[in-house]
Amino acid sequence: MDEHFTVLDAYNYGVKQLKNPNQEVEIRLIINKVNGYNDMSAFYIHKYDELKDVKLFKKYIRKYRQGIPVSLILGETYFDGLKFVVNRHVLTPRMETEEVIKKAAEVARIYFGNRLPYTVYDVCTGTGCIGISLCQHLPVQTLILSDYYEKVLNVTRENVRLNKKILPRDVSIKKQDSLEKITSFDRDSNILIIANPPYIIDAPVSEETKKYEPNYALYTTSNLDVYRKILFKANSIHNDKALIVFEISDEIKPLIDKLVTDYFSFYKKNYYKDLNGQYRILVLEK
Ligand SMILES: C[S@@+](CC[C@H](N)C(=O)[O-])C[C@H]1O[C@@H](n2cnc3c(N)ncnc32)[C@H](O)[C@@H]1O
Repeated sequence: MDEHFTVLDAYNYGVKQLKNPNQEVEIRLIINKVNGYNDMSAFYIHKYDELKDVKLFKKYIRKYRQGIPVSLILGETYFDGLKFVVNRHVLTPRMETEEVIKKAAEVARIYFGNRLPYTVYDVCTGTGCIGISLCQHLPVQTLILSDYYEKVLNVTRENVRLNKKILPRDVSIKKQDSLEKITSFDRDSNILIIANPPYIIDAPVSEETKKYEPNYALYTTSNLDVYRKILFKANSIHNDKALIVFEISDEIKPLIDKLVTDYFSFYKKNYYKDLNGQYRILVLEK
């Protein structure tokens, strides 16, 4: 006979199986997926509803117990309140990166003022989470999402489709090594280049990340190749004003600082820490 669970039964089953109260969020994400709920408060509203597929729910819990990240089990995650498709070819968006986009938007509004729309280059875009989410915070007219890997860009494309309602009409997805081309010399828009390139050199990485996330999204060398290429290309922007925002880490901060000081000292630079007190954001103002 088919087993029946309410949403609350499912939750209690999950807690018992996982034996860790800190995984409550993951259990609720799994319930949301199985029942097609869209936000985290759904659990409270639908506690006594029937769970649509008990077998599937148990399968997801089993996989999660085996150590597979919930985003990969479900094939999706949430970032800045939006849903994003993920798979093993892309980095799962991190909460720290939400801090990067919010700071970028805050600084951009002050630096450019409110007059013009934006052209945003999200380089090393992965899921597209940075560029897509920025459209919630700034009046973006043109969005260019680029990455080196076609298998990554397939995920970017899905996320553009998924979040179409918040995006401008002019969105392009490009395969590029770092930043090869600045296509817009439009003086009637604010140019914002933003990137979260691979930035781990020797810093420790969790076992879960090592096992489930692609090396090409994580690792770089002390040469900071991708940051370097983006900076050199950004030199060809003719606009009087432009903003470059990088996600960084404590580990690479001295290296990127030397790079900027040696070759790009004309930028005004500001570093910001994240909520954990780690250097996370570098903003360069032309
Ligand atoms: C740290 S992930 C960031 C993904 C996403 N922007 C985010 O913040 O979640 C780095 C991304 O850079 C891409 N990448 C690595 N080397 C690259 C290169 N030479 N040119 C362009 N993209 C590159 C990877 O495919 C990966 O998607």
